[in-house]
Amino acid sequence: MLITRPHRAAGQHSLGEERVVDNTKLHQFVGQMLSDLGGAVSVALVRMGDALGLYKTLHAQGPMTVPELAAAAGVNERYLREWAAHHAASNYLSYDPATQKFALPEEQAMVFAIDDSPVNMLGAFDGIVAWLGNQEKVQPAFKNGGGVSWGDQTACLFCAVARFFRPGYHHNLIGNWLPALDGVVAKLQRGAKVADVGCGHGWSTVLMAKAFPNSEFVGYDFHPSSIEHAQTHASEHGVAGHTRFEVATAKEYPGSGFDLVTFFDCLHDMGDPAGAAAHVRQSLKPDGSWMVVEPMAGDRLEDNLNPIGRLYYGASTMVCVPTSLAQEVGAALGAQAGEAKLREVITAGGFRSVRRATETPFNMVLEARP
Ligand SMILES: C[S@@+](CC[C@H](N)C(=O)[O-])C[C@H]1O[C@@H](n2cnc3c(N)ncnc32)[C@H](O)[C@@H]1O
Repeated sequence: MLITRPHRAAGQHSLGEERVVDNTKLHQFVGQMLSDLGGAVSVALVRMGDALGLYKTLHAQGPMTVPELAAAAGVNERYLREWAAHHAASNYLSYDPATQKFALPEEQAMVFAIDDSPVNMLGAFDGIVAWLGNQEKVQPAFKNGGGVSWGDQTACLFCAVARFFRPGYHHNLIGNWLPALDGVVAKLQRGAKVADVGCGHGWSTVLMAKAFPNSEFVGYDFHPSSIEHAQTHASEHGVAGHTRFEVATAKEYPGSGFDLVTFFDCLHDMGDPAGAAAHVRQSLKPDGSWMVVEPMAGDRLEDNLNPIGRLYYGASTMVCVPTSLAQEVGAALGAQAGEAKLREVITAGGFRSVRRATETPFNMVLEARP
């Protein structure tokens, strides 16, 4: 059955023909919306599952009834019953009607319970809260075209970002990404000078410092509270002796003669990425390397109309574009810039060669040489 509606809706010009709604497509789209809304309402419930230790308890102790889980995790049984029902309806937990037990399947545990799993996604749920909170700042910016500074974003965006990216770095940085660069691991083993720019909470810096104790690391970021967190992480992980962190912008960080400069998921956030590239170029040794890790994306919009593009365009609207527009130049490359645009700004900074050294489903790793 087709539903028709008048061809001239309020505020619309006549298109000269009757608008026709295809009922099948309508049902499919409403189904998609139900699924999206279910995902949206899950954000708070997943974060409570994490904060209250429900995933870790289920992972450690196996299938449990609601009273058993409530007792083990020390939470109220009535609230937990609703939470568990939502999770079973979401395919986040399995439910056995015969025993009335809920379980966290191994695959779901990789996402919700295991901190170092390569697909732990809890940081993304934290990020969604920050992006939602940013609406009151980003919405006026849609009108006035202004930016929202990184440090003015709501909730602990910085903690969420650090938590979201850490598993990917933990699994790829030392074993895959650095070895994909030309001769860099040998230099790091001998003892090299490294700058990690836009380092945020410093997990990438700390991972490299742990793996290469003969090298000297300095992390730079223009956000003072991130630098404080990074210093704490370095001390906690026993690398403070050859690692330090300083507040500095990507265009003005001090020091020169670096063997390696790294940018993790930050070049596209910068106001003047070409200016940053020029500064990196002059801070490197003539045979140095610049590693640029950026979100995976194709060059054309139509290449990115997929779940990763969907997530990153959303994050980019709420965080990356406003961050860049709050800075000088305001290039606003966006989180789905694609390799061609990234090459443009890197070569504008004076680099003669750029190649895609390696990639994962979420990231591309570019190597630029002077
Ligand atoms: C998405 S976060 C990534 C942080 C960290 N590299 C990571 O991978 O977890 C982007 C970082 O870039 C930093 N940033 C943005 N523009 C900058 C600039 N012009 N100079 C220095 N840092 C900048 C922000 O403070 C933030 O820490």
